[in-house]
Amino acid sequence: MNKLYYLLVFLIILNFSYAIKIKKRIGIDNNINNIIIQPPIVRDVFISSENLKKSGDVTAVILGENFGIHKDKVEVVFGNTKVKILSVLPYLIKFQLPTNPVSSKVNVYVNGIKSTQHSRLEIVPIILDLSTDTLTSGGNLTIFGRFFKPEEYIIKIDNVKNGCILLEVSKNGDYIVCEVPPGTGGNKPLQIDNTLNFSNRTFSYAPPAITDIKYNHKYNNLILTGQSFGEPCKIILNLNRQEMECLYPVYDNISTIICLPEEDLSLLTPFSFSIEISVDNVKSLYYDQL
Ligand SMILES: *[C@@H]1O[C@H](CO)[C@@H](O)[C@H](O)[C@H]1NC(C)=O
Ligand SMILES: *[C@@H]1O[C@H](CO)[C@@H](O)[C@H](O)[C@H]1NC(C)=O
Ligand SMILES: *[C@@H]1O[C@H](CO)[C@@H](O)[C@H](O)[C@H]1NC(C)=O
Ligand SMILES: *[C@@H]1O[C@H](CO)[C@@H](O)[C@H](O)[C@H]1NC(C)=O
Repeated sequence: MNKLYYLLVFLIILNFSYAIKIKKRIGIDNNINNIIIQPPIVRDVFISSENLKKSGDVTAVILGENFGIHKDKVEVVFGNTKVKILSVLPYLIKFQLPTNPVSSKVNVYVNGIKSTQHSRLEIVPIILDLSTDTLTSGGNLTIFGRFFKPEEYIIKIDNVKNGCILLEVSKNGDYIVCEVPPGTGGNKPLQIDNTLNFSNRTFSYAPPAITDIKYNHKYNNLILTGQSFGEPCKIILNLNRQEMECLYPVYDNISTIICLPEEDLSLLTPFSFSIEISVDNVKSLYYDQL
């Protein structure tokens, strides 16, 4: 009876140690597997143009190797920020860019193993849309896009530096507003800061128009307010077909022209007149009484 009992205990212990051995071997196998796994390699990172809209999240794409297929085993660090991963393939990871991103290194970790090579994602402003195709001098142009920073953008229209005067950069960097300078004609390319080539988007100015005229007795001049005055522009006062000399642009008030008539208009007032403005042979007429 005692002998049988010891045999039973012996068999149980044997069984137990065998189970431990098996467990150990699996553990060893796991380690071997970990050594066989190649560290991830990051070859390229870029902003995905699909789904790039005026608002909402922006997706970035990482191209490389050895990313596996398990989203929960992968970590992407953009600068110092762990980002949200959208999808994983062995050679491609999609992740969501954090808000207001700045150019940073991108590192990938798979099973905690860091990528042997990293890549840098350069964040440059992207233009997506414009509020208008028709320019109106003195009017606002809104440029919709992504990653606009609160800085002094130089916005060129028709290769004129500071052509469009920067008024506002939105807080989340998805639009900028500028004031359109005086100008005339069509096919004016828009370009920002030289970093963005927007040469395939062109504008046309609306025809010139006078919206108001005031006579300044003190200086004997006429102050014309309107749009698309441009340069050169010719102004004729139809009192006696007198052509006036005009001062423009008035830099802090680009929709205004000051005209200097040859004769003293104060001697004539009140008077009725018409004024003709022509810019690049586009004419506009205005009648008033002063
Ligand atoms: C132009 O934009 C500025 C800045 O966003 C704004 O203050 C102003 O009211 C706008 N003017 C017009 C005419 O829309
Ligand atoms: C803009 O694009 C045009 C046409 O593609 C090219 O000729 C020009 O060099 C580019 N300019 C800049 C500043 O990239
Ligand atoms: C301007 O460029 C965009 C993007 O490359 C293209 O989709 C569009 O057709 C171009 N427009 C013109 C007028 O060339
Ligand atoms: C532009 O100048 C005219 C004439 O001096 C003035 O009446 C008008 O208020 C000015 N407009 C702006 C936006 O400053």
